Amino acid sequence: MDKIVSLCRRRGFVFPSSEIYGGLGSTYDYGHYGVLMKNHIRSLWLRAMVQERDDIVAIDSAIILNPAVWEASGHVAGFSDPLIDCRTCKLRFRADRLEDAQCGRKPSKRPGEFSECDLTEPRQFNLMFETQVGAMEDGSSKAYLRPETAQGIFINFKNVSQLARRKPPFGIAQVGKSFRNEITPGNFLFRVREFEQMEMEFFVPPAEAEQWYRYWIEQRYSWYTGLGIRESMLRVREHDESERSHYSSGTSDIEYQYPIGWQELEGVANRGDYDLTQHTKASGTKLEFVGQEGDRYTPYVIEPAVSIERIFVAMLCEAYDEEVVGERERTVMHLHPLVAPVKAAVLPLVPRDEGMSSRARALFEELRRRHTVEHDDSGQIGRRYRRQDEIGTPWAFTIDDQTLEDETVTVRDRDSLSQERLPISGVAAWLDDALQREWRSPKT
Ligand code: GAP
Repeated sequence: MDKIVSLCRRRGFVFPSSEIYGGLGSTYDYGHYGVLMKNHIRSLWLRAMVQERDDIVAIDSAIILNPAVWEASGHVAGFSDPLIDCRTCKLRFRADRLEDAQCGRKPSKRPGEFSECDLTEPRQFNLMFETQVGAMEDGSSKAYLRPETAQGIFINFKNVSQLARRKPPFGIAQVGKSFRNEITPGNFLFRVREFEQMEMEFFVPPAEAEQWYRYWIEQRYSWYTGLGIRESMLRVREHDESERSHYSSGTSDIEYQYPIGWQELEGVANRGDYDLTQHTKASGTKLEFVGQEGDRYTPYVIEPAVSIERIFVAMLCEAYDEEVVGERERTVMHLHPLVAPVKAAVLPLVPRDEGMSSRARALFEELRRRHTVEHDDSGQIGRRYRRQDEIGTPWAFTIDDQTLEDETVTVRDRDSLSQERLPISGVAAWLDDALQREWRSPKT
């Protein structure tokens, strides 16, 4: 993980936030390549979830909702982790994760194992961030930053099912920031307090819930392998009853083998009719499906939920490689071309040469209308290739002497390092086509 963090910083993907003020633990800002890569992940998810389907629509709900939403959903009473304080080192630990924690005084030991440790009894710590709405600072103005995007979907069930004229099975998808005051954030972006969730609530007739639950586990697993994550690095793990959230009647995690071990990448849950029933009771508005013949029922909900951060880290870990090529070491990110921040670089071999420079600029202008591409004319060509390898750019088009003679360019492949020549007039179509091709990780 240290190597990934260092590359992210060096190449401007992600930096520690508020750095000039000493930072704010486990909070990060995204630089140019990080933003591009996050945008690609978000659009690929929306493409698979909304654009390519007839049965899912999108929504964008508010971050700060009426606090009654969180009372009804069970978050005010139950969205908490058990917390233990150490009176000696003043650190806080999750009581259910003590085996993964380090003692503040003796990092070689776990909390409680060192003779000076003085641990409190566990107490429940609610993970929701509180805020105030309006100028009054009394209890009546208390509100919360949402800890999941899902509730913004449930409370809009009636609006969407009526206005979008949907009947189960159908889904509502949302992407947006969620906030959790995690007791022990860490491992880079893996567990942070502010993250971008991508959740889809799929409403189904109760009798079909199990079938759709299995269907969504399979769909989401395939989405990852389709984006180049090796099957050997992915697994599905079903929660036992004691692990499940208060609303769940079945949950499976799609886990990725991060450098910190097998961890949840995405969760797929069968939430039953818990949420719609709770909001119906608390709001007095019936959230149910009413059929043409007057038949009515409360749909069950199947929910695939993930954060861009967890995907981002998994993709980076999956891509990172160090290789020796012709006695030289290179660090290369074998990112899936659709996820790579920059799809292609346009490089004039000799930037001073007017003919090469103008052709490179014209090609760059043509390609940038369709894709995120980069024009780089600074430094030796070898260094420019290595820079593109480190940010994971799948292809580089080089304009050289031969281009001036026959209007062809070299295309260099990041993974195989093979080079071939193409007519400059066909580069845009070649790139469109290359981005549609199936891609497999060269890592074994
Ligand atoms: N609506 C259900 C829900 O929020 P969750 O398992 O608590 O369930 C869903 O979260 C997903 O959100 C996780 O699988 C993970 O991808 C992501 N996630 C949760 N907490 C996170 C955190 N602190 N930092 C980054 N991602 C997080």
